[in-house]
Amino acid sequence: MQDPYELNECVIKKIRFETKDTNTYTLAFPNDLIIPEEEFKPGRFILLSIFGFGEAAFSLSSLIQNGTFETTIRKVGNFTQKLHSCKEGDKLYMRGPYGEGWPIDKAEGKDILLVAGGIGLAPLRPVILHIAKNRSKYGRLEILYGARTPNDMIFTSEFETWRKIPNSILRLTVDAVPRGVKWNYKIGVVPILFEDMETTPDNAIVMTCGPEIMMHFVVKGLIAKGFSEDQIYVSLERRMKCGIAQCGHCQVGKKYVCKDGPVFAYSEIKGLPDLTI
Ligand SMILES: Cc1cc2nc3c(=O)[nH]c(=O)nc-3n(C[C@H](O)[C@H](O)[C@H](O)COP(=O)(O)OP(=O)(O)OC[C@H]3O[C@@H](n4cnc5c(N)ncnc54)[C@H](O)[C@@H]3O)c2cc1C
Ligand code: FES
Repeated sequence: MQDPYELNECVIKKIRFETKDTNTYTLAFPNDLIIPEEEFKPGRFILLSIFGFGEAAFSLSSLIQNGTFETTIRKVGNFTQKLHSCKEGDKLYMRGPYGEGWPIDKAEGKDILLVAGGIGLAPLRPVILHIAKNRSKYGRLEILYGARTPNDMIFTSEFETWRKIPNSILRLTVDAVPRGVKWNYKIGVVPILFEDMETTPDNAIVMTCGPEIMMHFVVKGLIAKGFSEDQIYVSLERRMKCGIAQCGHCQVGKKYVCKDGPVFAYSEIKGLPDLTI
């Protein structure tokens, strides 16, 4: 059995600017390390470290392809600041992928509703890429995405490609539009997009990721529309240390976000302490 704490060296192949504080990093393994494709299931996360600076959890924001994969990182504190100062060619260390991902197998044959807020679109992007790759296995794909302003939206260069995925819809909203910025979509918080939503509860799976307060109102809105607690999957964010259910840092009630999640059916976590969803 592989040591769960084993660090794998990886190299930054490419850095793509998303917003003023967020970049997408393409990472590759230089030593011909082969990690099976199934390990990179959408919704799982890795622990990235830089010696002397620390370690933090990041979602996979792509599928793995030719030994490379992507992760999208927002600069919020010491470690992510250091990551943002890295250049193409620099080395990082990775553990994982860990955790339970999105229910992409259970979702086969069903309509898929994705509801994302801010950088919460990052862990949902591999779901979009997976559906595009396996289009006939899924029903309608509807993506509802909101950010603070148009300039805070990530993956904007891919929106047109996503709209061309057969039988798919992308709806956008922002909290506010700064003066002088062009915006042709909705203004308001994410649940405003439910007004035009086409997905119905009959045969659908919902996956949502964003700030907990956003997911709270998303779940409330969906339940009011007739979706059941088993149909709605949320991705939780907690401070991680071990990543393998040993240290208790990420515990929410009796659940370990690192091992039992980060993705949970709402019915599994509803009412647990320290949750605002
Ligand atoms: C399963 C999982 C997946 C994640 N996926 C991603 C991802 O794909 N991309 C990504 O950018 N981050 C992701 N995160 C969050 C990321 O792990 C943290 O933001 C990171 O640990 C911050 O490290 P830091 O040392 O830079 O910040 P710290 O120095 O620890 O924090 C600095 C300040 O920022 C605040 N802060 C820390 N984290 C956040 C946050 N997430 N949001 C808002 N404020 C914060 C702190 O409260 C503190 O005030 C994920 C976390 C988990 C648990
Ligand atoms: S991070 Fe240690 S138990 Fe989850």
